[in-house]
Amino acid sequence: MATNEHKNLANIVKSFHESLRHLCQQQGAQEAWKKHVKQRGRLKEYATAMHKLAQIWEDKDNTSKEGLEARSRIKWTIEFCLAYFYTELIYLEKRSREQRLLDSWTGFDCSQCRYMKNVPEKIKVLDVGSCFNPFAKVPYFEVTAVDLCPATDDVLQTDFLNVQVKSMENPKVGLENNTVTYLPTIYYECVVFSLLLEYMPSSEQRINCCSKAYELLRPEGILIIITPDSDHVGRNAALMKNWRYTLNCLGFMRIRFEKLPHITCLVFRKAIDPRISERWSILHKESYMTFSLKIPQDSKSKTLAVPSRKKQKSAYSPEKWKTILAWICKLMKALWIYLNYLFQFRMKVGHHRNT
Ligand SMILES: C[S@@+](CC[C@H](N)C(=O)[O-])C[C@H]1O[C@@H](n2cnc3c(N)ncnc32)[C@H](O)[C@@H]1O
Repeated sequence: MATNEHKNLANIVKSFHESLRHLCQQQGAQEAWKKHVKQRGRLKEYATAMHKLAQIWEDKDNTSKEGLEARSRIKWTIEFCLAYFYTELIYLEKRSREQRLLDSWTGFDCSQCRYMKNVPEKIKVLDVGSCFNPFAKVPYFEVTAVDLCPATDDVLQTDFLNVQVKSMENPKVGLENNTVTYLPTIYYECVVFSLLLEYMPSSEQRINCCSKAYELLRPEGILIIITPDSDHVGRNAALMKNWRYTLNCLGFMRIRFEKLPHITCLVFRKAIDPRISERWSILHKESYMTFSLKIPQDSKSKTLAVPSRKKQKSAYSPEKWKTILAWICKLMKALWIYLNYLFQFRMKVGHHRNT
């Protein structure tokens, strides 16, 4: 059972998100966001609540208690990074797969491919919406933790939606009074969005964050997205496929999807050549997919409107029409032969009768 403290904290977080969404519906995402970032008092209250909540969730003793059984998102992120860069060398396996894909497509080759030439001793991690810097103590991470309203002193303040990204010969983080003014492109091996995207009230803002992450990552670097999801795995399947499509369009390949009790963990990799993910998105696009990053809260119906089977069938492509016409022609021909045969048969019978 969740404690009263837990429930109160969860209510603060929930109502905060609801009021931002409400403001967005009334005034549009941009105006709502401008007003939102000025509410320093409310932001601070949210940061404190989120920090305390996370401590409850991450507390090992709570993992067996009902309602708090979610496996740690922080632990999951650390373990995946370790496996990807060091222990299982997943990045090499995914590299070979992308090379094979390029080889199998006519007109494509690896001349434009970009690789991560060396894996550094410490993985440079950009934790966006970090809140309380949960990765600070990981020995093989070099963390840049940023947040709109930091809960702890080791997190830098910035609005990731409006921070500049700069290409530099000597990459560094631009700082003014502990506020990040710019971030270096093609620098990080890993960008983490843990419970960040659903904070944003609009799909465009979420896309803006992901395309910034793409610019900040080195080739073959990874974007880890942790998103809250207490439903069963099939409930948001269409929505998750749409996310994959949109991130493919941005140059990312999805390399991991794991549904845990209250969260979904996703990993996208900056492909060695953006043409791979772009082509992948074209080949796997389904009729309901659009370039968007929606979440269940965006629509009152709670799920992405996936057309029914009936509707999908009615969307005939020119190829399908050609096949149908060919079948109709075949049927007409068969009918014509049959009628001819019948006519001749009757003629013969009539002739016999007359003679
Ligand atoms: C739900 S909390 C998640 C905190 C932490 N990452 C975790 O997994 O527990 C979302 C955090 O994202 C931060 N955030 C939201 N929009 C942001 C933005 N545009 N730039 C930086 N941080 C942002 C919020 O201030 C908040 O601390």
